[in-house]
Amino acid sequence: MSAPARLLVRDLAQLATPAPGDAPARGHALAEVEVLEDAFVLCAGDAIEAVGRMRDLPPLDGDVRELDGRGLCAVPGLVDCHTHAAFGGDRVEEFSLRAAGVGYEELHAAGGGILSTVRATRAAGEDGLRASVERHRGWMLRHGTTTFESKSGYGLDRDTELASLRAIRAAGGIPTWLGAHAVPPEFDGDADAYLDFALGEVLPQAATLAEAADVFVERGAFDAAQARRYLEACRDAGLALRLHGDQFTEQGAVPLAIELGARSVDHLEATGPDGVRALAASDVVGVLLPASALFLGRPMPPARALVGAGAAVALATDFNPGSAFCESLPLCCSLAATQMKLSPAEALTACTVNAAHVLGRADRLGRLAPGYRADIVLLGASDWRYLAYHLGGDLVGEVVLAGQPVELR
Ligand code: NIG
Ligand code: FE
Repeated sequence: MSAPARLLVRDLAQLATPAPGDAPARGHALAEVEVLEDAFVLCAGDAIEAVGRMRDLPPLDGDVRELDGRGLCAVPGLVDCHTHAAFGGDRVEEFSLRAAGVGYEELHAAGGGILSTVRATRAAGEDGLRASVERHRGWMLRHGTTTFESKSGYGLDRDTELASLRAIRAAGGIPTWLGAHAVPPEFDGDADAYLDFALGEVLPQAATLAEAADVFVERGAFDAAQARRYLEACRDAGLALRLHGDQFTEQGAVPLAIELGARSVDHLEATGPDGVRALAASDVVGVLLPASALFLGRPMPPARALVGAGAAVALATDFNPGSAFCESLPLCCSLAATQMKLSPAEALTACTVNAAHVLGRADRLGRLAPGYRADIVLLGASDWRYLAYHLGGDLVGEVVLAGQPVELR
């Protein structure tokens, strides 16, 4: 058998990676980022073989492709553990109305919001959904996201939910079945009847396509008792559990997530001190979505309190057409630093190794270290902290995906 193809990324201004340690990183460990100056990364096949300083680079035999890293900083490929990339249409009309003062929840209650995307997604067809996820995947990659999770949740009928999950898989995403996102119009507000249908008719197939299940616990969506029923059935079908919780109001999502051993509870803009304490004492990751808080003009989640109390946190975009039309994790790192007072190091760990943990992949993704997948983002900057510092900057110079440089534009 021939040796795997090798790629040497050389002469990097800096290389920054979350330090070795348990995942998820919490407390002080969240800020432990190792920085090497004048560095290299050597990849063999789809994995990292070695990282180090140029002066320690051993002579390499055989064919080695080289990538010039001068003037660039390497960080691990970013991991977006919370997106909604499978949808039809857009919400630009609603966005304009919101700019004029109409409320997000008000639009939802009037049959717009999520439900208007449900109509457009049902009309898109499977080919349209595949094109949509593929397009959004390209946007994410240009911002340095090398691994993305995406939820379904804009179909809410059997065929469109399953088509969404297949489209996510086809684009290389990690699919989550958001079968309890909203009650679709044909159920006339009867959430329990909708769940009978979703669990009876969709779950058996969805469980073969998705890795996790998610539910929106909120007034106007699903209450804690309904969420429990949905999540228990999904867990019994072998899915990992996630929750959208405390976005607008605390409805019991945090205690439910802890009781059921969920991987994460996401949003947390409305989480109070009890929720912070409970999360900190648990293994559930709090996923911070600052682009969503910004887009809706909501308070930011209590990130500093969570980290200070010892909770595990991750950072994600929540990319979707209604509450966060934003695919940029670097922008989320800037928001983490400027609005939530996380350090650039904490932000980097939160959208790499901790996000990989939420997706059950922290052993292979989220660090630049031997044995990890060779997913590398090369930032056009002299210091890796530009990741958070350059607000809205066009930062991503090159991306290496599974050991292969990718064409970005
Ligand atoms: O995470 N909160 C629920 N779901 C999405 C938004 C969906 C939408 O507005 O289309 C979120 O913010
Ligand atoms: Fe979301």
